[in-house]
Amino acid sequence: MRETAQAADLLSWYDVHARQMPWRTGPAERAAGARPNPYHVWLSEVMLQQTTVAAVREYFTRFTALWPTVGDLAAEEDARVMGEWAGLGYYARARNLLKCARVVVSDHDGTFPDTREALLKLPGIGPYTAAAIASIAFDRPEVVVDGNVERVMARLHDVHTPLPAAKPELTALAATLTPEDRPGDYAQAVMDLGATICTPRNPACGICPWRAPCAARAAGTAPELPKKTPK
Ligand code: ADE
Repeated sequence: MRETAQAADLLSWYDVHARQMPWRTGPAERAAGARPNPYHVWLSEVMLQQTTVAAVREYFTRFTALWPTVGDLAAEEDARVMGEWAGLGYYARARNLLKCARVVVSDHDGTFPDTREALLKLPGIGPYTAAAIASIAFDRPEVVVDGNVERVMARLHDVHTPLPAAKPELTALAATLTPEDRPGDYAQAVMDLGATICTPRNPACGICPWRAPCAARAAGTAPELPKKTPK
């Protein structure tokens, strides 16, 4: 199937160009099929909700040094965790982080549930985060759509419908591409593609693993997509 080959092309690119992040497995672990720690994936995804990868790195490393397991975090005093969160902003995230850690301990024996549906019931975990954790930590073929993925899909299929109206269409397109094989790596590969190659301005189309199937590249419209409804 064409879509499967397209996902495989991106995975081959990711095997060489994946960004190293402290919550990801390294290339050797990935090759051996190892999954990242669900606690690490959850913590990084909550921190990344309104914060850049560059800023999150240092907070993530400090949190996991202070609290190596979700149980350690759940047992910490609120004020201590809020103090360490200072600088990341959006404090509701930190309060939900603690709430979630305590529910994982009290209702799930300190182990994160491994489906999108069960994750969605936890405090602070919305549709994007539930899909991201199910995919990245548990290799489930969930459709993970953030701003990077919307941009990549709009360009790949030359979608000119403006955001936010285009969201359902872009999500449907993302769904047709999500593979059964290595969906967790695939989800992170699309994010990396959007962050490093299919960038908002000056996309590096010449070195993109999806340059051949990209409709916007063929049409010369990549830099102007996705369109946005003026506020
Ligand atoms: N943004 C949110 N989650 C991410 C991840 N796992 N990799 C790269 N960028 C991300």
